[in-house]
Amino acid sequence: MVSAQSFIMVGKYPKRIKMQTNHSDKDKVVLAYSGGLDTSVAIRWLQERYDLDVVAVAINVGQPPSSDDIIARAKKIGAIAAYYIDAQQEFVDDFVFPSLKANAMYQGVYPLSTAIARPLIVKKLVEIAKKEGAKYIAHGCTGKGNDQVRFDVGINTLDPDLKIIAPLREWVMTREDEIEYARQKDIPIRVKKESPFSTDENLWGRSCECGILEDPWQEPPEEAWEWTTSPLEAPDQPEYIEIDFVDGLPVALNGEKMGGVELIKAVHAIACRHGVGRIDHVEDRLVGIKSRETYECPAAVVLTAAHQSMEFLTLPKDLLAFKKDVEKRFSELTYDGLWFGMLMESLQKFIDHTQNQVTGTIRVKLYKGSAKVVGRKSPYSMYDEGLSTYAVGDSFDHNSAVGFIYCWGLPYRTASRAHKKE
Ligand code: ARG
Repeated sequence: MVSAQSFIMVGKYPKRIKMQTNHSDKDKVVLAYSGGLDTSVAIRWLQERYDLDVVAVAINVGQPPSSDDIIARAKKIGAIAAYYIDAQQEFVDDFVFPSLKANAMYQGVYPLSTAIARPLIVKKLVEIAKKEGAKYIAHGCTGKGNDQVRFDVGINTLDPDLKIIAPLREWVMTREDEIEYARQKDIPIRVKKESPFSTDENLWGRSCECGILEDPWQEPPEEAWEWTTSPLEAPDQPEYIEIDFVDGLPVALNGEKMGGVELIKAVHAIACRHGVGRIDHVEDRLVGIKSRETYECPAAVVLTAAHQSMEFLTLPKDLLAFKKDVEKRFSELTYDGLWFGMLMESLQKFIDHTQNQVTGTIRVKLYKGSAKVVGRKSPYSMYDEGLSTYAVGDSFDHNSAVGFIYCWGLPYRTASRAHKKE
């Protein structure tokens, strides 16, 4: 057995990757490893059922266990190599920020936090598969959700020759069976007190489903919310924050310049304190099922509201209207697992082109569960006080309105007369 610690390039970002490897002649499978029960059991199951060497890959997109811990655990279970990749920066630059520029909300409600992390994880898995010469990729998605589609379609778009194994689609184990299997096989697992919910977390949000949430009539219990303070218990005083945008991206909070990851974490903390970002939605899954899910997306809710307001101030009416359609399509492609494609690439190019004037400052008031934009300013503001004022200093030509209205209403008057005759 060889142990190594090294720095290597994964994609365009240098990553500190700790590796530990054994050598054998078996084919390899790269497993998306979370450290949880399902994927821990999957390591051994892939070895036994498919006779493959397992390379475990854990990817940090926001709320991960520590690297040493997760690598050691994967190795202990039997992985021949284990990677821990801190991909937070890349997640923000290449997935969160493009979504923010698109004001992305699936069905107008869900900021796509889980959905945008999938293509990043896919990209990392494919990179590791290439590096390791693996023919297979495995993931822990079930056969009922959207994530299996995002993984499978994403992986095979990036490399159509890779074969995909989804253990949870194949095996018929219940949670109890998994625990028993782990016990029999001496797989070290930490069985936490069973949560009534299934959750997924990253920098952009937390998804929560199952348990009592499966009854859409039941109000989500307080325990479904893990990040945000209950609005009832949030501070009695509102808090105001200022977010500076340059070319459509947030660059400073309350005047302090910050990198993307840092800024999102800072906004997250403030929004959580004020109970902002709770979402309760019955959504349409790609596989045709309606499902009830709650989301906590504190940073996404605040930053999207702020970004959208920046656009309302700086972009012309027709562009805003057209961009709305593009945003909807962007959100659907993201949700539907079609991130890596020409349409998405082209929509992103369009969106990027719209952002050159989306620069300025937005003031947000956070108070007991709500985040409201209460102030905006920009060097590219299209707001002209002379044109909009009802007070002195009015520069709008009121007489022109009469001629405009004559033409604007002409088809309607004409139709009215013509149809009355009939
Ligand atoms: N419904 C969301 C989506 O498809 C989240 C899925 C993951 N949710 C979970 N609780 N594990 O993007």
